[in-house]
Amino acid sequence: MKKYTDNSWDFKTADTKVFTHCFHNYPAMMIPQIAGRLIDRLGKKNDVLFDPYCGTGTSVVEANLRGISGIATDINPLARLITKAKSTVIPLQVLDFYLKDFNDFIFHFKFGLKNCKVEEPNFPNIDFWFTPQVKQHLARIKNYIDKIEDENVVAFFKVAFSETIRESSLTKNSEFKLVRMKDEQLRKFSPDVFAIFERKIFRNRNGLKNFIEQVKAHKKNQICDFDTINEIPKKIIKEESIDLIVTSPPYGDSRTTVAYGQFSRLSNQWLGLEYASQVDNNLMGGRRAKSYEKFGVKELDKQIEKIGNKDEKRALDVISFYHDYKISISNVAKTIKPGGSIAYVVGNRRVKDEELPTDITTAKFFEQHNFRHIETIIRNIPSKRMPKENSPTNVTGAKNTTMNCEYIVVLKK
Ligand SMILES: C[S@@+](CC[C@H](N)C(=O)[O-])C[C@H]1O[C@@H](n2cnc3c(N)ncnc32)[C@H](O)[C@@H]1O
Repeated sequence: MKKYTDNSWDFKTADTKVFTHCFHNYPAMMIPQIAGRLIDRLGKKNDVLFDPYCGTGTSVVEANLRGISGIATDINPLARLITKAKSTVIPLQVLDFYLKDFNDFIFHFKFGLKNCKVEEPNFPNIDFWFTPQVKQHLARIKNYIDKIEDENVVAFFKVAFSETIRESSLTKNSEFKLVRMKDEQLRKFSPDVFAIFERKIFRNRNGLKNFIEQVKAHKKNQICDFDTINEIPKKIIKEESIDLIVTSPPYGDSRTTVAYGQFSRLSNQWLGLEYASQVDNNLMGGRRAKSYEKFGVKELDKQIEKIGNKDEKRALDVISFYHDYKISISNVAKTIKPGGSIAYVVGNRRVKDEELPTDITTAKFFEQHNFRHIETIIRNIPSKRMPKENSPTNVTGAKNTTMNCEYIVVLKK
């Protein structure tokens, strides 16, 4: 298997917030320069790119900048919203009309000219995460957004709103998981919700302007809601219709790796996006397997056996992830045209001190569907917000270094 380290993929000093990539933070985002370089290598104009686990749509944006249209899915509704906003062209005159109107709305509110009470949402624990004043101000913005008719402008505003929710909530912003601030911090915390929101919309407007000036895709993107673990709907993606996949799947189940659902929960709840509290259970590996399974990849099966000898439950967590991952790959593989390429950017996490060979497993799972492994490039992760240390044994204080590098696995059908 051709596998080598190449530091030119580290992009240590690259600006990762160019174009609409500045829109919304998210756990384990792909660096746009990686997506862009892979598309330059593997794709060509007028191709169609599919991202089966799109997160914030990094690949779709980079594809559009190169004249390639995108089809994307993610089972986290917040991720789909961000992808849509980042990859939708809105004429700037239209957007500026709404931005000015919003500015007037805030002016009227601040000077007491429009002060009728707005209804606040009511979801479990809302008062645990938001002070009464923040809640009322967020509700005003939400109420404003709900009256916008243009659905693209709505998505643009909602994405800025989602980040405002997080920043004005009582969560520790340095964590992806939902953790409440310490009392001392709580006492000093008095965010200006409108100022935060305005900062976001103006930053995002600049990102969108730069995107519009460069974008070359002529066909509309399709941001869809299907789970790749189930069959991929043929009316959305026909078999053998996709030229290229550039994606980064989850590293493992969301209970013990990255909790995408927890990160997104408050936004999903405020925005009324469906199954807000269920996202983590629905993600790949979200439901613990009940029995052992072999995957036909000896490197993986051996590691799972070793984990099982130390802790059976953890082995079942690992199995549940690879079980779903295998099905997902077999569904995704069908969508690719003969001659088409896939690039999966993956991490080899450690569980119970054992490294799980997701790079090899990804290649082997695709090889079971008539793909040929081209290469695996190893890159260092310089700045990704990922836990560089985890507790290998779940013993408090016991830490182990994990995932300082990523693997870019490239195959061709
Ligand atoms: C590593 S993130 C993708 C990050 C993305 N490349 C970006 O730049 O933002 C993995 C994504 O996979 C999604 N995911 C997990 N299980 C999924 C499934 N069964 N089907 C589709 N998406 C899934 C998660 O919600 C998460 O957004």
